[in-house]
Amino acid sequence: TGNKMWGGRFAEGPSAIMREINASIPFDKALWRQDIRASKTHVAMLAAQGIVTAADAAAIAGGLDTVAAEYETSGVPENWDLEDIHMTTESRLAELIGAAAGRLHTARSRNDQVATDFKLWVREACVAADAALGALQVALVTRAEEHAATIMPGFTHLQTAQPVTLGHHLMAYYEMLDRDRSRFVDAHRRASQCPLGSAALAGTGFPIDREATASALGFAMPTRNSLDAVSDRDFALDYLMAASQCALHLSRLAEELIIWASQPFGFVVLPDALSTGSSIMPQKKNPDAAELVRGHAGRIAGCLTSLMMTMKGLPLAYSKDMQDDKPPVFEAAGLLTLCLAAMTGMIDGAAFRTDRMRAAAELGFATATDLADWLVRQADIPFREAHHITGAAVKLAESRGLALDKVPLADLQAIDPRIDERVFAALSVDQSVASRASYGGTAPEQVRARVAEARRDLGLE
Ligand code: ARG
Repeated sequence: TGNKMWGGRFAEGPSAIMREINASIPFDKALWRQDIRASKTHVAMLAAQGIVTAADAAAIAGGLDTVAAEYETSGVPENWDLEDIHMTTESRLAELIGAAAGRLHTARSRNDQVATDFKLWVREACVAADAALGALQVALVTRAEEHAATIMPGFTHLQTAQPVTLGHHLMAYYEMLDRDRSRFVDAHRRASQCPLGSAALAGTGFPIDREATASALGFAMPTRNSLDAVSDRDFALDYLMAASQCALHLSRLAEELIIWASQPFGFVVLPDALSTGSSIMPQKKNPDAAELVRGHAGRIAGCLTSLMMTMKGLPLAYSKDMQDDKPPVFEAAGLLTLCLAAMTGMIDGAAFRTDRMRAAAELGFATATDLADWLVRQADIPFREAHHITGAAVKLAESRGLALDKVPLADLQAIDPRIDERVFAALSVDQSVASRASYGGTAPEQVRARVAEARRDLGLE
């Protein structure tokens, strides 16, 4: 009844509750590919260094291939007695090839093994997130190009502020995602040292070649301190921080789509394929995918908090607390993948109601700043005074239910005689947007220039 891997010093086996609380196989089976790959790399190195014979190494490598093929077709078996993916694989290997299997774990511990497997997994997740973000950027840049001159109200405090273009608004998210991509690239680069060969915590007395295993697994170099190597989960936290920041951006875009899809706004119709209906209200089409992107951002941030709390205050080196590192990373990665795919689909398939956007921009006195700027430029009035005059004009327009450019000239001149008929050109939303041609501004020419740059960066040109 004793444990096959470590039962030598035990008089009795673990209780049922010990087996259950200890078992990580239900979730760490997701690491099986990385575990097999790292084991094959390790045993090839052991053979090259003369630590195991070529014949044993060949038997082990062949056996690991068989285990991998079994996992591929039938999944990874979940036996709590075998604790985790490492012991599950080694025990199956022993069934397949016999005693030689016991040589695989020479000069290795599950502590450096799990750190290596998990780091390989997280590195792949960084690459996948970067690629999925690139796909969403392609969707954004495509719609932004289409709508480089589409007028919509720009908001501050969710109150109409100044007219902007829809292309400019979409490109704002492109920039956020650019920073997100750089965070995943950075997380990947920082996770470029290989823990394998650090053994339990102190290194090993066997003449291993850590450079060889590091480079065979795609790392730049081995880790430089064995205690740090088996205790470090910064790479997982870096990934979760990048994922949280990215999810936060996605949740802001999701919130805007939700607001825009509401009937009072009516700025967008989201694709049917990413919406749901109501079981009682036949007219309903709900933006559930966007709401779930907004909601999942909270769960992803919770995953980051979870791992930070796990790592806080842990003494060197490995403690079993660290087994709890994997569920939050796997959960966050799954959620982020879904959120990015859903958002890409929503941006690709959104039907923007440009007529409603323009009407809202025209109605909200969005060009009031343009009137004040005109007074400064044409009549040399100090900005604060121009602001006051414009405020009076807005008040008048509002009381008459008119857009600013529909107030008769005589009424504007009654507020300030320095206003003349040239002012009307400045009050159109098109003129307002076209005038904001400073670098990074909303003028269509600026938006098109940034779109062209972005398309080059994405490899679309
Ligand atoms: N399942 C363990 C984990 O995920 C593997 C490492 C076990 N190491 C140990 N010293 N018990 O952390």
